[in-house]
Amino acid sequence: MSVAKITAETIRTMKARGEKIPALTAYDFPMTRLLDQVSVPLILVGDSLGMVVLGYPDTTQVTMDEMEHHVRAAGRAKPRALLVADLPYRSYESVDSAVKNARRLMTAGAEAVKAEGGKAILEEVRAIRAAGIPFLGHLGMLPQHVHEEGGYRIKGKKEPEHQALLCDADALVEAGAFGIVLELVAAPVAKELTQRIPIPTIGIGSGPDCDGQILVTPDLLGMLPWFSLKHVKPRLNAAEQMRTVIGEWKDSVTKEE
Ligand code: KIV
Repeated sequence: MSVAKITAETIRTMKARGEKIPALTAYDFPMTRLLDQVSVPLILVGDSLGMVVLGYPDTTQVTMDEMEHHVRAAGRAKPRALLVADLPYRSYESVDSAVKNARRLMTAGAEAVKAEGGKAILEEVRAIRAAGIPFLGHLGMLPQHVHEEGGYRIKGKKEPEHQALLCDADALVEAGAFGIVLELVAAPVAKELTQRIPIPTIGIGSGPDCDGQILVTPDLLGMLPWFSLKHVKPRLNAAEQMRTVIGEWKDSVTKEE
């Protein structure tokens, strides 16, 4: 098996080679190292860290300083995987801020950045690409817009939303994205997009027909039993196992003479 470093170009060409793309999130050194040890090719330092690590109610409170801190920790694992970092809420409102903040994340250890939106952020995406920074798109349910949207819901069921998704995906391809995350996109629309565009689609809650799948790792491991999500069936009950082991250890200490 090749041990060559995985780049954005590697991920882009996986679609042409018919290879599925498994992707997961990590927010620190040990999880990045573990994911890399099982050869996950794309690791995302997602702004989901706001909810799953920092205890915020959603991703809109995550700052550039917080993203940088976690990207540095993940980057120290020096993964073979492509390490992608999210540009947080309001960090890419202008071309200048988008390029400045994308550069900050790259300096911290990211090898590509991701931001939410299509046509609405096209100038910013073009500028990030012109600065030589690989870009991963994110369409469908956009968590940074949860307050405008009034919640998390499936996108693309209504015809105007379906058409907007096609236009946004085409625009991101034209602007030079190497892939697009599709979050909570109606499965038939995710399939149509996957067949339509030359770059990989990486789905989350968007059905089985995307070129890859991404999950928030603590959801996969059952670390957050207080969140239940329709699109993830935890494969481990880590929270329960941790409570048991920690409780047993605590009892072993308190019962000592
Ligand atoms: O922040 C994140 O973890 C993400 C995934 C849900 C794709 O954007």
